[in-house]
Amino acid sequence: MSSDLSPIDKAKFVAARKAVDYVQDGMRVGLGTGSTAAWMVRCLAEKIRDEGIDIIGVPTSTRTADLARELGITVTSLDEAKWLDLTIDGADEFDPELNLTKGGGGALLQEKIVATASDRMVVITDAGKEVTALGAFPLPVEMIPFGWQTTKALIEETLINMDVLGRDTTLRMNDEAPFITDEGNYILDLHLRRINNPRQLSLVLNQVPGVVENGLFIDICDVVIVGHGDGRIELRDINEGTVSEDRIDLLEADNIFADL
Ligand code: A5P
Repeated sequence: MSSDLSPIDKAKFVAARKAVDYVQDGMRVGLGTGSTAAWMVRCLAEKIRDEGIDIIGVPTSTRTADLARELGITVTSLDEAKWLDLTIDGADEFDPELNLTKGGGGALLQEKIVATASDRMVVITDAGKEVTALGAFPLPVEMIPFGWQTTKALIEETLINMDVLGRDTTLRMNDEAPFITDEGNYILDLHLRRINNPRQLSLVLNQVPGVVENGLFIDICDVVIVGHGDGRIELRDINEGTVSEDRIDLLEADNIFADL
């Protein structure tokens, strides 16, 4: 069964499988969005069934909420849960300081609110998302639809003074119409190629009227788990300053794949 998966999916699976080790009985857990986070939701459902633990999930999108409910995970809103023990989510890029670009799937706003309301954020990725500097992946900026062209122009003007390599911006589309987020907003993708000062850029972008939030996650992520297609895993903990390795035997994991 595992042999049916591409190396990238195996990498995402092993990272997700390792991440659910952080989940303990009684925890309130933020559930991220995207293909890697979807593996995590499946692994978490399996862990709940196998170990009989009781957890409450707070999803970061309608997609994740639907999947979690379908798999029998109890979900609630962030307002009900108030504060979370842990959030596990994917990312589009991470740098050596574990700063992230997120929002490729359009869920950055809820993802950022949920991760910030958590004691710990664990990010699960494949090795292709590691970069020396953020920016190769377009930076998503969520903005309200009202006056969006003015907001776009103001963002472009702001970028002139920022230490970035590219300054093109594109409105994210869904076929012929603008892509609409779960919060009813638009997304502007910034093609910056290299962001030399992500902390400054994040602060400045959020000052533009009409901008709701940007996809830079600065000082939010605590641990990145990098999965590899052969079952190897690297864990980078920014607070401990440690890098450790582990391995998941994909053949032994075949019974898990069969259930997922
Ligand atoms: C969703 O809005 C994103 O932040 C995702 O977490 C990110 O795009 C990673 O997605 P994949 O796991 O599908 O690569």
